[in-house]
Amino acid sequence: MAKQSKKDSLIEFKEKLKELAHLKSAFSVLHWDKEVYMPAQGNKPRAETLAYLSGELHQKFLSSKFKKLLEASKDRMAKGELTPEESAIVREVRREFERESKMPLEFVKELTRVTAEAHWVWAEARKKSDFRIFLPYLKKIVELKRKEAEFAGFKNSPYDALLDVYEPCATAEEISVILEELKQFLVPFLKKIQTSSRQINPQILKGNFSIEKQKEFGKLVLEKMGFSFEAGRLDTSTHPFTIAHHPYDVRITSRYDKNNLFYSLSSTIHEAGHALYEQGLLAENFGTPLGESVSLGVHESQSRVWENIVAKNKPFWRYFYPILQQKFKEPFQKISIDDFYPALNSVQPGFIRTEADEITYNLHIILRFEIEKALIEGTIAVENLPLIWNEKVKELLGLEAPNDAMGVLQDVHWSGGGIGYFPTYTLGNLYSAQFYETAKRDVLNLEDEIAAGEFGHFRNWLRKKIHIHGKFYRASDLVYNITGEKLNSRYFIEYLKKKYGEIYEL
Ligand code: CO
Repeated sequence: MAKQSKKDSLIEFKEKLKELAHLKSAFSVLHWDKEVYMPAQGNKPRAETLAYLSGELHQKFLSSKFKKLLEASKDRMAKGELTPEESAIVREVRREFERESKMPLEFVKELTRVTAEAHWVWAEARKKSDFRIFLPYLKKIVELKRKEAEFAGFKNSPYDALLDVYEPCATAEEISVILEELKQFLVPFLKKIQTSSRQINPQILKGNFSIEKQKEFGKLVLEKMGFSFEAGRLDTSTHPFTIAHHPYDVRITSRYDKNNLFYSLSSTIHEAGHALYEQGLLAENFGTPLGESVSLGVHESQSRVWENIVAKNKPFWRYFYPILQQKFKEPFQKISIDDFYPALNSVQPGFIRTEADEITYNLHIILRFEIEKALIEGTIAVENLPLIWNEKVKELLGLEAPNDAMGVLQDVHWSGGGIGYFPTYTLGNLYSAQFYETAKRDVLNLEDEIAAGEFGHFRNWLRKKIHIHGKFYRASDLVYNITGEKLNSRYFIEYLKKKYGEIYEL
């Protein structure tokens, strides 16, 4: 009899999780609508609706009723009465619950208020290119984030506690080691590229491209990749993003530039990579951690493996270049694939992270990681940020930052309290190269298939190895299970060496 009631508590626990998931889906539809369709005046009321809903979610999650169900499930797990899947659900919900319940309500409210205000102040400061306008807010945010780390608790660095939200269980120490190795390779490699006698002109890819035709081409690529339009949409927004309400309803957006079709194409493919992960989660696990992605770094590996490793390499263009030439006769008809390919991959250090190539992108991330880790550990002062930023830009990219807008103020992340987020972009690159090498061993003739426009085996490999597991494994176990090694920088370094060694004849 007692056992029966315990079983019921597990069922009830899962039902409560599902209720939370329905609220989250409603929240995300409203958020998507805000970015894609909502008229300007809707901004304020929508912000209020979203704030109300997130308050409801928070309360429901931390309610004593939910806590009781979680405790009962934990007891059953301790007695070994749960299946491995049920245990993983309890493990992950408990992680989130414990972190959230350690944050005092007053603190959460203050962080929400400060970051909401800071967003507008940051936008203003960037417009005027004046860090001093943003300084008091950033100081406050760093202070609050250090408090958050204290509340959450940590062993070595307070940065670990912040990183944990985005890349569960990763530490500042291990990421520092991996990124330092990468930096030791990238800085001299970039110098070699810059002094190479091979001159590449990316301007040959510019033209006048009808946006309608760009959309058609993007859709064709998505269909080939296996993005399901029955379970997803592609729309337009200022900043491209992916949002999933359910594995059967995954929305992506892109943006368009009349003169540069690769501006939209690479974002479209990037977001579709994220979307395939979301569409690849099992619908039967919806509402539980088994129906959620494992970490931001692994999510980013899915976007980058498609955007860069697949779609910025030769096999992909062997199939798509003739189609591109057909669709956009001007200028591609007169450009051979041998001239097109290097132009698509030209390397040029610049100030702006989001416009960077595969090589310099990671230097932008290393710079941000070093700075935000030092800010949280308290070894540098917020006041000195523009100076420190400019020194690092010089050291890593060999450039003199012209102003704050193109330097320390360019990214939105810190204004929203997103400290610990940046390294997941480069982790995504590292995971993607490590996964792809394994896929090449597992999938016979993978690159011949890609060159024939066949992506099914590769997509299914990603799905089987990564997507369907949700959060069943931790990211570190997942990468070990799949590749037989811990995450490391070797595969990515080898990939860059080979590819850019050929392009720049090093
Ligand atoms: Co992404």
